[in-house]
Amino acid sequence: QMYDVLVVGSANADLTVRVARRPGAGETVHGSDLVESAGGKGANQAAAAARLGGRVGLLARVGDDAYGELLLDAQRAAGTDVAHVIVESGARTGTAMIVVGPDGDNSIVVSPGANAALTPEDVAAARDVIAASAAVSLQFEVPMETVRATAATATETGTRVVLNPSPTPDSLDPELLAAADPLVVNEHEAQQLAGGSSEGTPEDWARALREQGARSVVVTLGGDGALVVDGEGGTGRVPGVKVEAVDTTGAGDAFTGALATRLARGDSLTDAARFAVRVGAAAVTKPGAQPSYPTPDELPS
Ligand code: RIB
Ligand code: NA
Repeated sequence: QMYDVLVVGSANADLTVRVARRPGAGETVHGSDLVESAGGKGANQAAAAARLGGRVGLLARVGDDAYGELLLDAQRAAGTDVAHVIVESGARTGTAMIVVGPDGDNSIVVSPGANAALTPEDVAAARDVIAASAAVSLQFEVPMETVRATAATATETGTRVVLNPSPTPDSLDPELLAAADPLVVNEHEAQQLAGGSSEGTPEDWARALREQGARSVVVTLGGDGALVVDGEGGTGRVPGVKVEAVDTTGAGDAFTGALATRLARGDSLTDAARFAVRVGAAAVTKPGAQPSYPTPDELPS
């Protein structure tokens, strides 16, 4: 096997400012000094998985600017193979404008830049790499046809698909849903994708998503851990780990990257989720996305 996990997705430079209070429309507030760090949901998943010791590749596009260099350096430092990161001349690297509030919660606006140019042709060129990986990990910050092409190729080549449909559309393509093993969503996304009813529990939404076609489902529950519905429909909860939240940016990506590596190594969904909860918890205790990702010895017990 070439990789445990091939992540196909976005890479962004995160431009983060902390505020005491979020501005409303038409309002200006003062914030902290600007921090520029490595982010992007795809690059985040890859960095998290690689820092934990997984064999990880990243198929992504960045521009030939300083942010592209920053992102490549961060992946190399994490241990990701960047042979499939395409540096597009004249393009601007994706950027995320992030505001972090006093409780560590964030609001993000993403400007896609080079991420918008990751195409199904790039996926076709990587077909052998997909076939030679145990799992592919996907998110929704690159064009949808690119996500679809990756899921279709992985399904054909017997490669497991881990799908985090974020940012979340109103509905999911049935073929994408059917490829997901698991679909990884937070509570809000689970509710929205399961049909938007405010009635019910995360268990109800997760089961509904499985009935709609997902092979398995994981719902992240923030400080309360995660909920798993496995391939046989068996449902269970994994408890949370109590930590002080400093910045939740990219914690879900760390969870998904960790989950994908463990699944690729043969863990059950529940065991992989138990490990991933610890990784997500570690990530919220430090500022930023990738700069906050733990090595195995930095995990809470
Ligand atoms: O999920 C967190 C990520 O979302 C950030 O790193 C930012 O780049 C946006 O893509
Ligand atoms: Na963090």
